[in-house]
Amino acid sequence: MRIDVFSLFPELFSGFLGESILKRALDRQLLDVRLHNPRQWTENKHGRVDDRPYGGGPGMVLSPQPIVDAVQAIRSEMEQPGPILLLSPTGRTWNQRWAEELATEPHLMMLCGRYEGFDQRILDILQPIEVSIGDYVINGGEVAAMVLIETVMRLLPGALGDEQSALQDSFSSENRILEFPQYTRPREFRGLTVPEVLLSGDHPKIDAWRRQESETRTRQRRRELLDE
Ligand code: ADE
Repeated sequence: MRIDVFSLFPELFSGFLGESILKRALDRQLLDVRLHNPRQWTENKHGRVDDRPYGGGPGMVLSPQPIVDAVQAIRSEMEQPGPILLLSPTGRTWNQRWAEELATEPHLMMLCGRYEGFDQRILDILQPIEVSIGDYVINGGEVAAMVLIETVMRLLPGALGDEQSALQDSFSSENRILEFPQYTRPREFRGLTVPEVLLSGDHPKIDAWRRQESETRTRQRRRELLDE
């Protein structure tokens, strides 16, 4: 999968892409993430990419020219450019099901905003799909884009060491309930012991216990998942 990310702060992604599971997926070429700074496309002689909002109000608005030109330049290089996702708190809320759909796309584009938002003509021209990662506001789309990249990359075949581990995750299409509690050594820590059943070696019994724990947790914390 190829992902083109447009951000005024591409450096924010370097630590994120340079470690752990993501680094391995990039090294193994399961994923190709390309960062673009729209500032490189600006025609403003002072290198500006934003301006004050018409009608007044606080903050700055991202100007249409650098973003539209940047996105169209990259799209024109591609035979079959994929969907454009624009990260914004006004978008539809991201979830695992949506990630599963997008994980089948060979190409995605992600637009990260800063300041007060995007000039509406960017949306009118590029017709992006607006995505929110939740009902709260962060400083810009970069962290939200990282959330999308990480959710989707986990679903790419071969990205995780153990193929099964993405299927077991809470919210996967195989498993729309919360994950059961996990334990590792030691058997006792500060007086708290590992449930006996997990030491029994009786796998049908262990599976039944885990299913029960998942259901109890889901009922207590996220009832609406069971109703779905
Ligand atoms: N930018 C600012 N807040 C956001 C959110 N909740 N989701 C996506 N992008 C954002």
